[in-house]
Amino acid sequence: MKSDSGSTVSAWMATADVPNFPPLAEDAECDVCIVGAGIAGLTTAYTLARAGKRVIVLDDGPIGGGETGRTTAHLSWALDDYYVEIEKVHGRDGARVAAESHRSAVDRIEAICRDEQIECDFERVDGCWFAAKLEDTTLLDAEAAAARRAGAVAERVVGVPGVPFETPAALRFPNQGQFHPLKYMAGLARAAVRQGARVYCGSHVAEFEKKPRRPQVKTSDKYTVTADAVVFATNSPVNDWVTMHTKQAAYRTYAIAVRIPRGSVPRGLYWDTENPYHYVRLANATGGEALLIVGGEDHKTGQGDDLEVRFGRLLEWTRRHFPMAGDIAFRWSGQVLEPNDYMAFIGRNPGDENVYIATGDSGHGMTHGTIAGMLIPDLILGVESRWEKLYDPARQTLRSAPDFVKENVNVAAQYRDWVTPGEVSSPDDIKAGTGAIMRDGAKKYAVYRDDGGAVHIRSAVCPHLYCIVGWNSVEKTWDCPCHGSRFDAYGRVVNGPAISDLAEPNGGGS
Ligand SMILES: Cc1cc2nc3c(=O)[nH]c(=O)nc-3n(C[C@H](O)[C@H](O)[C@H](O)COP(=O)(O)OP(=O)(O)OC[C@H]3O[C@@H](n4cnc5c(N)ncnc54)[C@H](O)[C@@H]3O)c2cc1C
Ligand code: FES
Repeated sequence: MKSDSGSTVSAWMATADVPNFPPLAEDAECDVCIVGAGIAGLTTAYTLARAGKRVIVLDDGPIGGGETGRTTAHLSWALDDYYVEIEKVHGRDGARVAAESHRSAVDRIEAICRDEQIECDFERVDGCWFAAKLEDTTLLDAEAAAARRAGAVAERVVGVPGVPFETPAALRFPNQGQFHPLKYMAGLARAAVRQGARVYCGSHVAEFEKKPRRPQVKTSDKYTVTADAVVFATNSPVNDWVTMHTKQAAYRTYAIAVRIPRGSVPRGLYWDTENPYHYVRLANATGGEALLIVGGEDHKTGQGDDLEVRFGRLLEWTRRHFPMAGDIAFRWSGQVLEPNDYMAFIGRNPGDENVYIATGDSGHGMTHGTIAGMLIPDLILGVESRWEKLYDPARQTLRSAPDFVKENVNVAAQYRDWVTPGEVSSPDDIKAGTGAIMRDGAKKYAVYRDDGGAVHIRSAVCPHLYCIVGWNSVEKTWDCPCHGSRFDAYGRVVNGPAISDLAEPNGGGS
């Protein structure tokens, strides 16, 4: 069972009554086995079960316990890689499919809420992208034109109505959405089960065998599920070792929720032109208050453990733009996967007929996950989809995002950690509740001292492709700087692509 609870997001999310499901306790057989009970996995499960397929969902944590439980839940087709750029890489038709599919995803979430009577605070709100400085108004003009070519409505407005800060210009995207993500996941899980899906939590998928006709997954408890098709909705695919992980890069992103007087800021989605950008929305709180949720300060996973500085900068930005902001009620971080050409990878795993993946969410995982829950069922059911080509995980785009070459150079550079010194020379140098990397001869160890003072030692070598992990003090996890695998303080895998834990210190490998 994973534990990724160093930050306090769970306190806010705990307002949702998420159902609990027992682990798989026998071998099983079905039409479609889905690994991952986040928004991508559960939407896929719900759609396929409604279509009459026999579905099994396996997750090693609770429902929505991955990134879906950490999202700030803007539901938007105002894409943060921008239509100007998407059009350059995927052409006008690709940009149109991008706009159409994300808009359909928000409509689909709304329809599921209505059909299944899910009370998750879903509401339609306007989105506003505002210029951080005067020069950025040209970006807005270019984006407005590209968005319109893609079929998305975007209006240039003077300032953002009702907000307390000045901005030279903004683009308004009407009729976007927001919701409470775990309340939605709770309702979706119950709806999938009503449709006949079988859901198991606390079941870690440790092995996968393709088998030509009927692939099999095996849990760490040694139970096997045999299916006609397997869907890996694990955020980062754990079935693929290399191909997909050279096409995307893992980033950490940070969020704070501050209390503000209810009604002091109009409900809406707001984000700015900085890089990395800040993203803002409002959520319900008790009494006369609302929560202003502000995110940003992204950096590559495993490459920036200066959380107090990052949270401090977020708070400073928040107070500068929203002077009524009170203290931080909740703060947390999470992971997003940035694809090399802006669009997620959703569809058949390259080279496979009956294995499917959904990954590369690019900060739009609520809509990308819902698109997965529409597109993958179409592929499995043999329904033609005009979205298939844009999201095909095997696609070769003529040009990648301009900066993506740097991502793979950056990964290569991380292997130098094999020869650098340790951060401490003895466990005695590690404070309670923290971790550090220690070198002993040629080997490196991930050493954690728990709150009671006991020391826990694992190999520091990531079992994916052998980079050296680093300590993440906000989540109390070991994070890999290469492709984003993460492990809890005791070395148990939290995020793929790694599928196994950090090795025991005498277990070889380091
Ligand atoms: C701070 C933050 C803010 C964000 N804001 C937004 C936003 O405003 N709008 C938006 O659209 N997106 C946003 N995102 C992105 C979005 O939250 C994610 O992209 C989305 O939740 C991913 O959903 P998923 O179903 O693909 O993955 P997840 O929710 O991570 O689900 C994957 C599941 O797979 C399970 N799993 C993994 N490996 C195994 C295994 N081996 N065996 C069994 N189970 C396994 C995990 O336990 C997990 O439950 C944000 C993300 C973060 C972190
Ligand atoms: S995630 Fe690939 S080496 Fe660690």
